[in-house]
Amino acid sequence: MCGIIGYIGSDNATPYIIEGLKRLEYRGYDSAGVAVCDGENFTVVKQKGRIANLEEELKNHPVNGTVGIGHTRWATHGEPSDLNSHPHLGKQSKIAVVHNGIIENYKELRAKLSRRGIECVTETDSEVVAQLMEYYYKGDLIEAVIKTVNQLEGSYALGIMCKDEPDKIIAVKKENPLIIGGFDGSGFIASDVPAVLKHTRTIYHLNDKEIATVTRHGVSFQNINREVVSKWPETIEWSFDSAEKGGYEHFMLKEIHEQPKVVKETIGSLMNGMNKDVLDKLCEKTASFNKIIITACGTACYSGSVVKYIFEKICRMPVEVVLASEFRYSDPIVDEKTLVILISQSGETADTIAAMREAKARGAVTFSIVNAVGSTIAKETHYNIYTAAGPEIAVASTKAFSTQLISLYIFCIRFAKSLGKINDSEEQDYYSEISAIPDKITSIIENSDVIKQYAAKCFNSKSIFFIGRNIDYAISMEGSLKLKELAYIHSEAYAGGELKHGTIALIEENTTVVAIGCCKRLFSKTWSNVEQVITRGAKVLYIQCEGGEATESEHVSVANVPDINELFSPSLSVIQLQLFAYYIAANKGCDIDKPRNLAKSVTVE
Ligand code: M6R
Repeated sequence: MCGIIGYIGSDNATPYIIEGLKRLEYRGYDSAGVAVCDGENFTVVKQKGRIANLEEELKNHPVNGTVGIGHTRWATHGEPSDLNSHPHLGKQSKIAVVHNGIIENYKELRAKLSRRGIECVTETDSEVVAQLMEYYYKGDLIEAVIKTVNQLEGSYALGIMCKDEPDKIIAVKKENPLIIGGFDGSGFIASDVPAVLKHTRTIYHLNDKEIATVTRHGVSFQNINREVVSKWPETIEWSFDSAEKGGYEHFMLKEIHEQPKVVKETIGSLMNGMNKDVLDKLCEKTASFNKIIITACGTACYSGSVVKYIFEKICRMPVEVVLASEFRYSDPIVDEKTLVILISQSGETADTIAAMREAKARGAVTFSIVNAVGSTIAKETHYNIYTAAGPEIAVASTKAFSTQLISLYIFCIRFAKSLGKINDSEEQDYYSEISAIPDKITSIIENSDVIKQYAAKCFNSKSIFFIGRNIDYAISMEGSLKLKELAYIHSEAYAGGELKHGTIALIEENTTVVAIGCCKRLFSKTWSNVEQVITRGAKVLYIQCEGGEATESEHVSVANVPDINELFSPSLSVIQLQLFAYYIAANKGCDIDKPRNLAKSVTVE
């Protein structure tokens, strides 16, 4: 939610800021703005809408200066408008601020400012930060920053410039991500690595309430008590190309195509190296757990819903899957015998962070599966492994999901082995199934015509239902979410057997139903649900493993995936579901990489 960037160097800051904002646009795209300092004054340009609008405005009215900050907004407080866009300035335009997060006590702070004769001019919560900082500024920017953040309740990542101290950018954060990068005469602050990857791979991760002072000569860190903090940079391995479209029409399509590679790399990383070491250590403790809770949001949570079936089948241990947004308000039954697994692409999702902290406070052992290196969840959980998905830019998650599934499969097998639930030969059988997955995904992607053509026929549907049983039901929920977020089509995922208890009333002539039938042992049961909807006029797309029993007819189209142990079939059926949602959205002309109302990283509750 919201992306921030800052540049200081010897070049004009504006092109760096615009380029960085474009890479952060996935975080929000309601409006964008820049503030650039020419050594004496700020010039601020803000535009409602996409970054392209801001870019256009800057072409007409170029802004020059070697230090600047920029922001792309996902609106929370105050409608998307030029006025409510960031950066925000203090009353005398001395201090400029960009903010990602929510200032929960902004009303109180506004009132306080008002009593001192300072009226906010925007509807945002963020403006109070700039106004307060300027109020407190008496020639020492850090002092003003500290006095201000000490009064803020809520979450923030802030980029700050002061025209009286024009040779620095200050960065400070609480619960929202912020990285510092660069230094060979120039420095950056940013919400995320892809924003600066073209210019630097040397990255510092800021911890909560640490303050970074970024100058042309380097960066220094201090805490809120002004004590020096020593930090070492990390070298980012991601290639710059991984954050580019690489000839694909959309990031989403590129990321779908990357799945064989990143799944393979994730398997490799769990068999050797740091991820394996973490699993080794965690698996020494398996006997101490009597329950597993998986908690996450959206797509990440559906990876947990899939793996619940596998865990319970192989490990015979109860697994609960709880939405992270519900977890902390549910008075969860969690203690030191509970393993709480947190799954997150960004590692910064506010609800998942809150669930993690709640679980820790209740004594649970926490284990996270995260894609973004150095993110809050990765750092704060007791055990963490990284997926090797690389930067996922499209708002709709695809390759992150596939690598989450793979990580969970392997963890589950390791867990079962250490509990003595499977023997060496069973373990090896599972691993050989898993290692065949990347090639099978490739074959689905290379043979996507059935899905593409089916999408072209039904993209005008008002409503699309997804049904399946058992693990097929779990993955159907992900298929339904993908369709909703990309194509804005009402959709529901139902356990096949549950339809007749109410929802079947919604099936009428030509309703589209996607049935997932990769659990061969349940074919006759799933098929009878298909018959029930066909009888009521539905048109069905049936996704099954090769050799399955469904046959084409006037009412049924069949899309195959390669044969696989049903436990791991979601890794294949999901590819068809991703392609289905992608092509429906493409046929409808939707903004695939940036669906309306959404943002990639949901850092507010
Ligand atoms: O970064 P996270 O994995 O924690 O994000 C969780 C969800 O917000 C995310 O998976 C969301 O549901 C995706 N847009 C779905 O495609």
